[in-house]
Amino acid sequence: MHRKIAIITGSSSGIGKAFLELTAGDNGEFFKTPFDEIWAIARREDALKEIASSVGNGRIIPIAADLSDDSGITVIENKLKAEEPDVGLLINSAGMGIKGKVMDKSPKALDDTISINCSALSRMIRICVPYMRSGENGRAKIINIASSAGFLPQPGFACYAASKSYVISFSRAMSCELKPLRIDVMAVCPGPVATDFQRRATEGKETDFTDWRKNFVIDPVKLSRKSLKASARGRKLFVYPFSQKLLHLASKIIPVSWILGFESRNI
Ligand SMILES: NC(=O)c1ccc[n+]([C@@H]2O[C@H](COP(=O)([O-])OP(=O)(O)OC[C@H]3O[C@@H](n4cnc5c(N)ncnc54)[C@H](OP(=O)(O)O)[C@@H]3O)[C@@H](O)[C@H]2O)c1
Repeated sequence: MHRKIAIITGSSSGIGKAFLELTAGDNGEFFKTPFDEIWAIARREDALKEIASSVGNGRIIPIAADLSDDSGITVIENKLKAEEPDVGLLINSAGMGIKGKVMDKSPKALDDTISINCSALSRMIRICVPYMRSGENGRAKIINIASSAGFLPQPGFACYAASKSYVISFSRAMSCELKPLRIDVMAVCPGPVATDFQRRATEGKETDFTDWRKNFVIDPVKLSRKSLKASARGRKLFVYPFSQKLLHLASKIIPVSWILGFESRNI
């Protein structure tokens, strides 16, 4: 009998941590049967161990891996090969942003952003799908954390916004490719969320969102709970909250050149 597991990347903090705590502590709100193990992946092993001990039911398996590096992906791939679990859920939440003009950023910072936001997410799907099967919890699920930043180009946040466009596009295509395997893929597009993201994206200069976005900041636990429910309903794209749905609509009907003109005033 294969063990039933969930895999959550970026679970040492923020949105991934909220998904990890909800999934590990679930008593039937999201899944009919609890997962035997949840593989919690991030670079900060101490933070993962702390979450595992505070949840305390022994289901969380902390795995320290830098997913922007080949060796990090290989750690997960080898563990899958060795243990052959049934992966019922994969959540790709690991990610980063870099604020500022591209020409002010190092080539490495651009590489790191694309590696973790795009390559690692794609490769995690590629290595996990062979182990994903429908089971007692219904169809296997992949949840990719994109962003409403992916709806449009964003001067001053160009690499990040483009990387999240990739996540939206990749997720939608994968949901078609994986349909015959009975695997659902959903991209989540939140607006600003109250996590460490902003501090890290500004190299510590801003701890919170300070522009107009500060009025729309949401709680990571609320986002994760709503996302798990949307995934259970088989949604392919989950835009949250309502303000971001309006932004999504606007991105489809207002000419991009007008929006870029507006956005360029602030860089
Ligand atoms: N917060 C927002 O406003 C917001 C809005 C829309 C979308 N998002 C997206 O939500 C996702 C989660 O971000 P967050 O807001 O929760 O920020 P966060 O608290 O900074 O979390 C980022 C997570 O990614 C992990 N990570 C980063 N680089 C990694 C690497 N190379 N290898 C493995 N793990 C790595 C971090 O863990 P370690 O540092 O321990 O490795 C951390 O657990 C990201 O994809 C982000 O783009 C965030």
